[in-house]
Amino acid sequence: MSIYSDCTCKAKKSATRKLKSSGLRGNQLNYKLEDYKTNDSNRNMFEGVGRYLKAWPELINSDSESKGFCLIGNPGIGKTMLSCIIASDMLAKGVQVVFVSSADLLAELRQAQFSKDREGIEEKIDTLGKAQALIIDDIGKEKPTEWVQAMYYRLIDLRYRNNLLTGFNSNYYPKELAQRLGDFGDATMSRILGLTREHFLCSTDFDHRIEG
Ligand SMILES: Nc1ncnc2c1ncn2[C@@H]1O[C@H](COP(=O)(O)OP(=O)(O)OP(=O)(O)O)[C@@H](O)[C@H]1O
Ligand SMILES: [Mg+2]
Repeated sequence: MSIYSDCTCKAKKSATRKLKSSGLRGNQLNYKLEDYKTNDSNRNMFEGVGRYLKAWPELINSDSESKGFCLIGNPGIGKTMLSCIIASDMLAKGVQVVFVSSADLLAELRQAQFSKDREGIEEKIDTLGKAQALIIDDIGKEKPTEWVQAMYYRLIDLRYRNNLLTGFNSNYYPKELAQRLGDFGDATMSRILGLTREHFLCSTDFDHRIEG
């Protein structure tokens, strides 16, 4: 009986730790696939995400290079909503997933780089490079300074070399995203496509923030 309680307690602690480090907050945890309204424009993305939800549990521990997903389209079509649904599903199945907006990611890396503790940035990249699953929301939105481009290349190259599940959302289609990722753009984009090509989903729809 006491062994049973210990096990439950450990599992709960581990789940709480994973939830905290996932970066998922508030209503991001409450999105449900059944709340996503479909129409002719977004059905392809909705169905693709449905397929991915079925596929990822097998992909994550496979040899496949393309374990991740990429959702591309205009603002307000539910890319963040759908990615949060994927991240929550991973979390519920015990995966150590990190969901981070591109702006927060860069702010954290910048803080680590320019803090007194110079090793902070290496530790941060190492942690993100090793997370079992990493989802970067809104890649390409920020001003593409040389530092931003280099950071993205380093992190995405590390995910690619470690063959780890990585998901992306963006407002930019590959050609434009590669341009926004600067001198390293083609190399970074090539790795993003490699990591996600089996579940690379694009859609154009009305902005659900404005119309509904
Ligand atoms: N098809 C949909 N059905 C129901 N709600 C939706 C749908 N698409 C988006 N929404 C809602 O619209 C709001 C904006 O969606 P979300 O933030 O996911 O858009 P986005 O594609 O990530 O936009 P951006 O590119 O600006 O980041 C959210 O409240 C989301 O729940
Ligand atoms: Mg978004």
